Amino acid sequence: MSITISPSILGGSFANMKETINQIDQSKAKYIHFDVMDGDFVPNLTFGPQFISNLRDSTKKIFDVHLMIHRVGKFLDDYIKAGSDIITFHLEINENINEIISRLKKSNIKCGIAIKPATPWEEIKPYIENIDQIIIMTVEPGFGGQKFMSNQLTKISELNNYIANNKLKIDLEVDGGVNFETGRQCVEAGANILVAGSFLFKQKNLAQAASELFDYFN
Ligand code: DX5
Ligand code: ZN
Repeated sequence: MSITISPSILGGSFANMKETINQIDQSKAKYIHFDVMDGDFVPNLTFGPQFISNLRDSTKKIFDVHLMIHRVGKFLDDYIKAGSDIITFHLEINENINEIISRLKKSNIKCGIAIKPATPWEEIKPYIENIDQIIIMTVEPGFGGQKFMSNQLTKISELNNYIANNKLKIDLEVDGGVNFETGRQCVEAGANILVAGSFLFKQKNLAQAASELFDYFN
């Protein structure tokens, strides 16, 4: 099975984002991970749909948009129009989850559900047959550069077993504190997409670092 790398642009300077996108574009990473935060669902603020749409023309890489916001229903169309390929929202919001899923399906956008570290994976079961990916948070959402929570590995392997036993086709993406070592643990537990932010941006050459992470797992 091939492992996909999704570099999180949160690790880069927002003043220089086009350059960051160009570097990822030259790497073996297939996705680009956009962390949208509203300052309410999480204690941090990032960017909105216009930021994403302004970068859309710079690359053909898959835009993997992670919404850490409360009012998903209200803003969903804006993120669809911005050029997202995959939109993942959090299960912990107080909204009609099925309605959001069906709107994404109608728009031909891949649909993901993310869960925070404290949320049991079983809570995704009612929706699992209708979604394309699950993001398992291995840090508390809100900030890059946090330490990987290894107590989430059981959640990854239980989800992976459930997906296999029910013959579902769902990507398992891990987000938070990923490096070679923690990434390997996630892949062994059954993850097939790895988000990586600070680990990649700490290296001298972003494109090379993203390609090396890809090569390590493929
Ligand atoms: C955290 C974000 C992550 C984060 C990953 O809320 O969802 O995508 O930026 O960054 P690192 O790899 O630094 O943990
Ligand atoms: Zn994320």
